[in-house]
Amino acid sequence: MFATDALIDRTILITGASSGLGRATAVLLSRMGARIIAVGRNEDRLIATASQLSGAGHVVRPFDLAAVEAIPEWLQSLAAECGPLRGVVHSAGVHLARPLQMLKADAVQQLLTVNVTAALMLAKGLRQRAVHESPASLVLMSSVMGQVGQAGVTAYSASKGAVDALCRSLALELATQGIRVNAIAPGQVETEMAEQQRGSLTTEQFERIRSMHPLGLGRAEDVASAVAFLISDASRWMTGTTLTVDGGYTAH
Ligand SMILES: NC(=O)c1ccc[n+]([C@@H]2O[C@H](COP(=O)([O-])OP(=O)(O)OC[C@H]3O[C@@H](n4cnc5c(N)ncnc54)[C@H](OP(=O)(O)O)[C@@H]3O)[C@@H](O)[C@H]2O)c1
Repeated sequence: MFATDALIDRTILITGASSGLGRATAVLLSRMGARIIAVGRNEDRLIATASQLSGAGHVVRPFDLAAVEAIPEWLQSLAAECGPLRGVVHSAGVHLARPLQMLKADAVQQLLTVNVTAALMLAKGLRQRAVHESPASLVLMSSVMGQVGQAGVTAYSASKGAVDALCRSLALELATQGIRVNAIAPGQVETEMAEQQRGSLTTEQFERIRSMHPLGLGRAEDVASAVAFLISDASRWMTGTTLTVDGGYTAH
C-alpha cells in the first residue's frame, strides 16, 4: 500500500537535487519522512532546495558526477557519515540538442558520462555492504527519448536508451542483494532543462511537441510522485522496469 509516511527514517540520496525533477523529488520524499542527501554541483541551489524540505536531518553535498571513478568511494564516505542508504535517485542529467553537423565527440562523451556512466557507478557504490540497507531502491531518470526518436537529440536519446537497458541488467545483478532498480521515462516536463530545449526550437516545433502530449506538458511533481512510488515498498515487486510518465506522449 502507498502511504504518505512510507519513507520515515529512510536516508535517500538524490542527484540533480539542485533543480527541476530532482528538487521536486527531494521536496516530496521529505514530506513522506525521508532524510535527504541533496547532490548537485551548485551549492547555493542545493541550499535553496534544502530550505524547502520538510523534517530534519537533511544534508547538502555538492559533488561533480563527472568524477565517475570517485563515486563508489564517495558513497562509502556519505554512508559512514549519514547512515546506510535505503534509496538513490539519479536525476542529474545533461541534455544536448544539436544537428549532426554540429555534434562534437567531446560533448557526446560529457553527456554519456553523467547520464550513463554515473548511473552505473552509483549502482556500483550502492551495492557495497556498508553503503545500503536492504530492501533498497535505485531509481534512474530516463526519458521518452529513449523509446522514440527526435531529430537533433541523437546523443541524448542514445543515453536514455542506455539507461533503460542498464536498468534491466542491473536489476538482475542486484536482486540478490535486496536492491531493486527501475527507471522513469518522463515526457516533456516544465523545468530548466525544458526551458533550455525550448530555446533551440521554433515556436512551431515547440507547439508540435506540446500537442503530442494529450494531457498537456508535465509538472515536476508529476514525476516526483512516480519516484516516490518506485522508492517506497509499495513497488516491492517491481524491478528492471521503465515506468513511462508522459501525459500520453508515447501512446501515439
Ligand atoms: N525536464 C524534462 O522535460 C525531462 C524529460 C525527460 C527526462 N528528463 C530527465 O530528468 C532528469 C532531470 O531533468 P531536469 O529537467 O530536472 O533538469 P535540470 O532542471 O536541468 O536539472 C539537471 C540537474 O542535473 C544536475 N547535474 C548536471 N550535471 C551534473 C554533474 N556533472 N554533477 C552533478 N550534478 C549534475 C544539475 O545540478 P548542478 O547544476 O547543481 O550541477 C541539476 O540539478 C534528467 O536526467 C533529464 O534527462 C527531463
